[in-house]
Amino acid sequence: MSGEALHPEFFDLVGNVRAMRRLKPDPVPEALIFKVLNAGVQAASGQNLQPWEFVLVDDPAKKQWFADRYRDAMYSRFRISPDDIVERNDKLARQLKAVLYQIEHMHETPYLLFVCGLRDWPFKVAEENRVGLAPPNYGAVYPCVQNILLACRAVGLGAALTTMHQVFEDELHEYLDIPTDYGVVVTMPIGWPMGNFGPVKRVPAEEKTHRNGW
Ligand SMILES: Cc1cc2nc3c(=O)[nH]c(=O)nc-3n(C[C@H](O)[C@H](O)[C@H](O)COP(=O)(O)O)c2cc1C
Repeated sequence: MSGEALHPEFFDLVGNVRAMRRLKPDPVPEALIFKVLNAGVQAASGQNLQPWEFVLVDDPAKKQWFADRYRDAMYSRFRISPDDIVERNDKLARQLKAVLYQIEHMHETPYLLFVCGLRDWPFKVAEENRVGLAPPNYGAVYPCVQNILLACRAVGLGAALTTMHQVFEDELHEYLDIPTDYGVVVTMPIGWPMGNFGPVKRVPAEEKTHRNGW
């Protein structure tokens, strides 16, 4: 093996999948969304059970309903406030500005994608401890979500992964008729990006790797 990649463009792509929080309200063809979702469903899952389901929302009233609750949840639980970043331009403040933009423009996003996962107790939880609702199958849903992020990047769409819907998940289930045996794992606003895709900043794997034990 020479160490050269057969598909070098993959390595550019995977290193450029930033959270794109500033999205244009311009329409996105539904065919493109299904191209992206079909990349998502190529992900692996235990026994190939494919325990994901998507709720795709483009109804303006429903997007507004979600945006109102998302804003309340972010301001009260994430405790973010526009006052925190006035006159600041450090890295964290720039990220917070993008988060604030996302909060205030959530309702304008062409598509809100809710990725749901079938509830499933992990093997390590003993039968007698299986009380209440099982968690959604995160292990299967996140590879699907990552494929969606990569596919969005490949077709030039912007997307970001958000999880704050957890704060009002019961209400969300009822509003979108999501069955109780599924949990909503992530909410992804998807649209054409306003800014540029850029390289992500991550600690190199060499610094995260422990040889022959930690
Ligand atoms: C499990 C998980 C939960 C996340 N939740 C949120 C979220 O609720 N809101 C948000 O804006 N971004 C969320 N993100 C995105 C991260 O904030 C983002 O990937 C990180 O800040 C690095 O930024 P970058 O991907 O643009 O480099 C989440 C990512 C993961 C993997």
